[in-house]
Amino acid sequence: MSSPTAVEHTLTDQNDLLQVTDLRVTFRRGTRDVHAVNGLSYAVDRGKTLAIIGESGSGKSVSSRALMGILPDSATIEGEIRVDGIDLLSLTDSQMRAHRGSTIAMVFQDPLRALNPTMKVGAQVVEAVRAHGGVSRREAKDRALELLRLVRLPEPVQRFHSYPHQLSGGMRQRVAIAVALGGNPRVLVADEATSSLDVTTQAQIMDLLKDLQRELNMALIMISHDLGLAASYADDVIVMYAGRAVERASAVDLFQNVRMPYTKALLEAIPDPRRPPHATFTVAPGQPPDPSQLTSGCAFAPRCARAQPNCAEQAPPFAEDADGHRYACWYPLGYAPELETNNA
Ligand SMILES: Nc1ncnc2c1ncn2[C@@H]1O[C@H](COP(=O)(O)OP(=O)(O)O)[C@@H](O)[C@H]1O
Ligand SMILES: [Mg+2]
Repeated sequence: MSSPTAVEHTLTDQNDLLQVTDLRVTFRRGTRDVHAVNGLSYAVDRGKTLAIIGESGSGKSVSSRALMGILPDSATIEGEIRVDGIDLLSLTDSQMRAHRGSTIAMVFQDPLRALNPTMKVGAQVVEAVRAHGGVSRREAKDRALELLRLVRLPEPVQRFHSYPHQLSGGMRQRVAIAVALGGNPRVLVADEATSSLDVTTQAQIMDLLKDLQRELNMALIMISHDLGLAASYADDVIVMYAGRAVERASAVDLFQNVRMPYTKALLEAIPDPRRPPHATFTVAPGQPPDPSQLTSGCAFAPRCARAQPNCAEQAPPFAEDADGHRYACWYPLGYAPELETNNA
């Protein structure tokens, strides 16, 4: 296999398990088109963790729901989503149903919404296991218990018979992860899966997800508004803005050589644990653009301290440097010393 550098290998290898190419999601809202995802491309391999980071509204959830095939009918999806070479967007609804859960599974922010409040948690894991294979009730029950042990639910035999409301938030998220693992997915998407938990529980759940990813050799996509969390757990990071990737690199490289002014603003916006999850945090002056009124220029230009007149006219290409670090910026940090000193 030809892989010039480790970074390039993880970012661009054609053999990667999941390959998303030029993904576009548009919602029809009245007479307007809402361009929620505007040409997103990435790849993740087995045993790797990709973090997708960005402010609220940047298209993180919509792009991951597209992978799962769970967007509403008002969404038009274009591009390619390939897992092991199979293009999920070309599947029929019933073929997609068979893939959902067994190819790609998802864990959401709120485990209470993912779980059925009127059903014992053990039975919910059994149901998830049975949905994906011809297993007997007995085998499914054994497997469900095994999964509850795997997600380190304390006292799994007793808790098998608990209802979701009888468990703590962290335990409920463990159960939701067990449900997601019921179909033996090869790709696990965790969308703000720890955002509603306290800091200690958040770290425990992230550690669990990382361990599961290693043990089961899954590709893990962690979606977060918290760049610090991404840094600690991801191999590679994509920063999204206005439905596009604006910077993409290995976690280490991103922090050492941040290029995109937007990423720098994210780095400087230290998340406040007391703030409600999903609240828009102040990254740079102004707001992200309205996705129904995107222009041909760089979407971040109106908020960017480094912007020059040409930024508003033409969007920069998603350029790649020699290390495989990609960024969409005409005036990247670290490359224009005279601008650096002017804005210091
Ligand atoms: N069902 C929908 N109909 C119309 N617009 C939507 C719908 N779902 C999401 N959007 C819009 O798509 C954009 C991206 O949303 P989302 O992916 O949820 O952002 P993030 O997860 O990054 O916070 C937002 O502008 C949001 O308002
Ligand atoms: Mg979201």
